Amino acid sequence: MALLYMTFFASRSAAQKMVVTAPSPLTCGNPSDAVPLYWSTIPSVDVFYTTAITDITSVIRSDGYDFGGITCLVFTTQELSTVPLFHVYNGNDIDNFYTTSTTERDLALESGYTASPIAAYIYPSQICGSIPLYCIYTSIDTAHIYTTNVTERDAILALGGWTDEGITGYVLDYQSTCA
Ligand SMILES: *[C@@H]1O[C@H](CO)[C@@H](O)[C@H](O)[C@H]1NC(C)=O
Repeated sequence: MALLYMTFFASRSAAQKMVVTAPSPLTCGNPSDAVPLYWSTIPSVDVFYTTAITDITSVIRSDGYDFGGITCLVFTTQELSTVPLFHVYNGNDIDNFYTTSTTERDLALESGYTASPIAAYIYPSQICGSIPLYCIYTSIDTAHIYTTNVTERDAILALGGWTDEGITGYVLDYQSTCA
């Protein structure tokens, strides 16, 4: 009888503990805070990504970039479970590089890139209905492209001269999110 009671008690407290530690929707941050990550480009030179429409306007007016569109949705402040998307710039090769890795950022800083403000906050793993943000790179033009579109990524990789840099992080899809 005592053993039976102990077993019941142990499983009951384990179940209670699970309820307490189960992830709550709040750990996702608030999807309605997510904003467009815009892109603009000088073809065969560079692609620039930013949430600041004033920065897009500035590079179009002053630096010869063309407006591209919206890549995805991201956060501009650190919401729960998100990490910084660091941004560094190389003015010699004209390359905007974005990474969540402090190691990659620091390697770029050591090889001629300069630090820009944090570009956005994104998820480090596929949670909260997020989708992968893929990165491809070409050393021919020293350019990074970021896209959520696998078809587009594979089409550019098939052109040759580009390498698959994997997944930068996880973002929200602007085409399926109804905020
Ligand atoms: C993905 O990219 C392909 C190739 O560029 C394009 O045809 C397609 O419309 C894109 N899909 C979306 C959902 O934007």
